[in-house]
Amino acid sequence: MTVSPAGSSVPRIEGPLKVSGIATYTSDFNFPGLLYAVPVCATIGSGTIAGLDTSVAGSMPGVQAVYHRANIGRIYRSAPDEGLGTHLDERRPPFEDDVIRYYGQYVAAAVADTYEQAIAAANAVKVTYDAKEPDVRDQLEPEGQPNLDGERGDPDAAFDSAPVKIDQTYSTPVETHNPIELHASVAVWDGQDFTLYETTQGVVNHRDVAAEMLGVPKERVRVISRFLGSGFGGKLFPWPHSFIAAAAARDLNRPVKLVVSRDMMFQNVGHRPRTQQRIRLGAGSDGKLVALMHDSLNHTSILDDYQENCSEATPYSYSTPNFRATSGLARRNVGTPTSMRGPGAVPGLYALESAMDELAIALGIDPVELRLRNEPNKDEGLDLPFSSRHLVECLAVGAKRFGWSGRDPRVGSMRKNGLILGWGVAGCSWIAERFAAQVAVDLRDDGSARVATATQDIGTGTYTVLANVVSEKTGIPANKIEVVLGDTNLPPGPISGGSMVTASVIPAVSQAIESAQQRILMAAIETEGTPFYGLEADALAFSGGIVHRKNEGPERGMAFEKILAKAKARSTSGLGKAEATFGSEDRKFSQHSFGAQFAEVTWQPEIARLRVSRVVTVIDAGRIINPKPARNQIEGSVVMGVGMALLEATEYDARFGAPINNNLADYMVATNADAPQIEVTFLDYPDRVLNDMGARGVGEIGLAGIAAAITAAVYHATGVRVRNLPVRLEELLA
Ligand code: MOS
Repeated sequence: MTVSPAGSSVPRIEGPLKVSGIATYTSDFNFPGLLYAVPVCATIGSGTIAGLDTSVAGSMPGVQAVYHRANIGRIYRSAPDEGLGTHLDERRPPFEDDVIRYYGQYVAAAVADTYEQAIAAANAVKVTYDAKEPDVRDQLEPEGQPNLDGERGDPDAAFDSAPVKIDQTYSTPVETHNPIELHASVAVWDGQDFTLYETTQGVVNHRDVAAEMLGVPKERVRVISRFLGSGFGGKLFPWPHSFIAAAAARDLNRPVKLVVSRDMMFQNVGHRPRTQQRIRLGAGSDGKLVALMHDSLNHTSILDDYQENCSEATPYSYSTPNFRATSGLARRNVGTPTSMRGPGAVPGLYALESAMDELAIALGIDPVELRLRNEPNKDEGLDLPFSSRHLVECLAVGAKRFGWSGRDPRVGSMRKNGLILGWGVAGCSWIAERFAAQVAVDLRDDGSARVATATQDIGTGTYTVLANVVSEKTGIPANKIEVVLGDTNLPPGPISGGSMVTASVIPAVSQAIESAQQRILMAAIETEGTPFYGLEADALAFSGGIVHRKNEGPERGMAFEKILAKAKARSTSGLGKAEATFGSEDRKFSQHSFGAQFAEVTWQPEIARLRVSRVVTVIDAGRIINPKPARNQIEGSVVMGVGMALLEATEYDARFGAPINNNLADYMVATNADAPQIEVTFLDYPDRVLNDMGARGVGEIGLAGIAAAITAAVYHATGVRVRNLPVRLEELLA
């Protein structure tokens, strides 16, 4: 048995459960008397319901109920809260009124004994509409005055007088989260309490929102999410289907399962909104920025203000005395957008890093060198030092590993095996913060430990990383550590969002272990038969699972489990609590992760084939707790970045507002065949401002910058600058 401290690549401890099919995902939960709910979705994008006839559907075989506005029962609104407290993106409860604001909006739901019967009944609900033409236009114009998100110096004057200027607009399309696991809810009501099995990246938030919307105290709602088939942000916050299932279970007094179909995933559970970003860069002939302006727009839904925050990374990315960022919203007849992996920074850095590449070309300066010349020595937006920023080293290491010095900057000048090569580079960044977290740790008389918190593992490796952390801090091998997540009965843990879980739980784990260990020391001094009986607790130390005298080494000590056994205690439990840094006004450092993306494309104009052939990524994300899942996260992000750059875009039909390519055949995501050769390097500098282990997070940063590196490589290969994602072959051939 070896200890598995941070830095050791422990394979996923839940892996055997997943590959053997034992892991229970939400839709795997079945209960006696379970019913199936299937929603009826609006077939217009704007208008009102004129008539809704459930008479045929309601009398079909196996149908228990057909719900709509008149009979769903009370579903309340959840009042707005600060920050991400009690948060949901689509605030309107299902069936609240008869107005249709987006294609696919739920208008009714059939509940039946079998899934097939429920589908048949849902299809038999007759809905007529007074339809209006929906607005799903791509081109975005701001409504009202844009928000001023940040300003320093006099950017207009500095830009006007700059010797070299870039003024370009970049757009990113609607992207739909396509985790393989569909959203699902299984609602159980026992006449008093709800138990909701949910596909959620935040059991605690889901519980808090559900309690408010169902009009019951929090204690009456338990939310369970043991395993997720990923989420990418789409499962961060609750969506209306959950409350349809819960309201149906409440009314029928039977468990109700509702699985969102793949086509509904494109309309009912959020998306990354379309963005349109104007970037203005002014520079001296030495390449130093004198002005940087980032004006971004994103679309949102009719009722909700979802802000993508594209300029999040812009104020601190580069040094410039003159800066401004603005943002605005444009309403469209679409479902409410939500966070998608790296919200804000990912589309924002596509625009900013593309403009930096264009500036490098305008100046005749190597794009790596241009970034080095504009490296700031503090966060000029916050006027604070960085807790730990190694972007320069990321660029240097990446350039070396990629072979950047062999790059011929002339467009179309490089060849390999008869293919035209393009090489591009981009920097990337992502926030490094903590949410509030509570963690319980039990140390047990068989030498094992249990660690429990109501966060969840969305497929990223949280179960395993928690085992690493506890192993390092206790000396207990990872395979003797039980990790329990995904249940609101546990001490409240953070949402799996913002790549913050690892950083958030570490201080709470430390505190919990200290408190559990302190109780073992107490047991040691109070239990006859231990070598420490009668000593003072502060004469003792705890090292690697061994209790010993401070003035002696652990080799003269006693294992903690022996002390527990002598004390006839099964376990000692400690609870740790850590505050959030996210949203804090009181900060001394700018806290972010950084990275550099180097991409190679191959271009064959004769058969119009563009491929991303090679990516070198260097990531500065603090201390890496478990390199294996960390690498998985970066590799997965790079593949997703290939999709963002070349494939992904949700297209709407202008007549009805329907997402046209609402399936995995027509909405293309990058697959294994699209995956480049990927080399990931972690710099592994601990960031102890964030927590005692110096860990940040790696779930999102790998997607930042990758699309800009790819489009820069595409320019280098083809001479075509793509400013509207995704890259389309016809643009390269024009
Ligand atoms: Mo991430 S978009 O915060 O799940």
